Amino acid sequence: MDKATYQEEYGKYGYMREQVKEDFNRLAFHLMPPTGWMNDPNGLCQLKGLYHLYFQFSPFKAGWDTKLWGHYTTRDWIHFREEEPFLFPDCPWDRDGVYSGSAFVKDGEIHYFYTGNVKLWGKPYDYIMEGREQNTIHFVSRDGFTAGPKELLMTNEDYSANMSKHVRDPKLYEKNGTYYMVQGARDSQSRGCVLLFESQDLIHWSFCREIRSREPFGYMWECPDLFELDGQELLLVCPQGVKRQGHDYQNIYQCGYFPIDFKPEGEISLGEFRELDKGFDIYAPQSFQDEKGRRILIGWMGIPDAEYPEHPTAEHGWIHALTMPRELSWRDGRLYQAPLKEMEELRGEKRQTTVAGWEEWETEDCCFELSVQLDREPEKLRLRLREDAILSYEEGILTLALGKSGYGRTKRTAKLDGLKNFTVFSDTSALEIFINDGSCVMTSRVYSEGLRQKVLFEACDVLGEAVCYRLKGYQVEWRK
Ligand code: FRU
Repeated sequence: MDKATYQEEYGKYGYMREQVKEDFNRLAFHLMPPTGWMNDPNGLCQLKGLYHLYFQFSPFKAGWDTKLWGHYTTRDWIHFREEEPFLFPDCPWDRDGVYSGSAFVKDGEIHYFYTGNVKLWGKPYDYIMEGREQNTIHFVSRDGFTAGPKELLMTNEDYSANMSKHVRDPKLYEKNGTYYMVQGARDSQSRGCVLLFESQDLIHWSFCREIRSREPFGYMWECPDLFELDGQELLLVCPQGVKRQGHDYQNIYQCGYFPIDFKPEGEISLGEFRELDKGFDIYAPQSFQDEKGRRILIGWMGIPDAEYPEHPTAEHGWIHALTMPRELSWRDGRLYQAPLKEMEELRGEKRQTTVAGWEEWETEDCCFELSVQLDREPEKLRLRLREDAILSYEEGILTLALGKSGYGRTKRTAKLDGLKNFTVFSDTSALEIFINDGSCVMTSRVYSEGLRQKVLFEACDVLGEAVCYRLKGYQVEWRK
């Protein structure tokens, strides 16, 4: 769908905007598609103060369809603007979708790298070893709104010979004056890995090597992200095909990070993989460094091919969302995620009490932030967040259990070395729970029957402080 076709169709689908507006599940402080489908965050960057947040977007269907890059901008993470989609499939290299990619700011310009998806028809292809093309494409923009000409950097021929046709999602990293690009891949033996390329000028790229885990770990790795954080380099990837092991890997596809010792000229070894988030709905996260030097991460609050395909929002013309922006830090061998400081501006009326003194509390819109700081390790804790969404803790296991409001999502657990504190961000149809200063996070969608809900502690032997704020929503300037 090129830009002209999109503009022609846009008017026809105006009714979807009305449908979305009427849905009480539409999110207050999470970015969601204006209409249609949203998946991975793409091209996250900041230029001259303005943050650009692009995303995988099918505007006219609340289901899988050809992808564009949708676009929001913000200066303060409270006021957002919906912009016209930024990138369209309009050339032979990307005709079946402008897939995920990233942005790299250099000398006042933004360089974008993304995957052009091409599907071949006419033969009974397996679409793994044949039947598709995944091209690496580059273009430059001076402002994040107007894209320069697309330039084909690599085709499947340029990836290593033992790869399947699944190679995608380029992301850049600069180290010691050299540019590196990581791409997610599935090899011909169906082992997931990352391909590493290098360049001196962002245009000419040469293949360096494959980056692999010591043992096979899934059949495909999507959306890699390589960066340095507080002195430690990390490789984020989304492996597909990893089996559940106790409290680990409970979702169909995973999303997590390896500490990496990144010496491109020597051996590259990966440390132990850890999951980024223990909730139901998290995938394809992307990070970037803003002009303040913060490493900010946003994920897709959804997951492909999940075993719970039903989302009540689809009949209202939209589906899926992005997580809140999270600031990352690395301390004592652990990754910490904290909601971006700017989110504090959403705070309204405050309620401060002890856990024991917490009396039943009602919310009219399910939008609140509740922080609990514990005085000692609890034996038992049970917090009802809405009619059938319960966060509980016992014997080192934290559980998020959803009833009907899970729409097929039932239970996720995390094994902790004790519980010291947690903060719940509750939005109309989403929960993001930051545990132990954000060393563990649980992100999930939840669909209640209504937004008038009671929040209460049950069966607790807990001593501690509870602080709760009602939260306001983002202010979004929508397109007409
Ligand atoms: C991850 C992903 C990417 C791909 C994009 C297509 O969710 O499958 O690998 O580029 O989504 O929308």
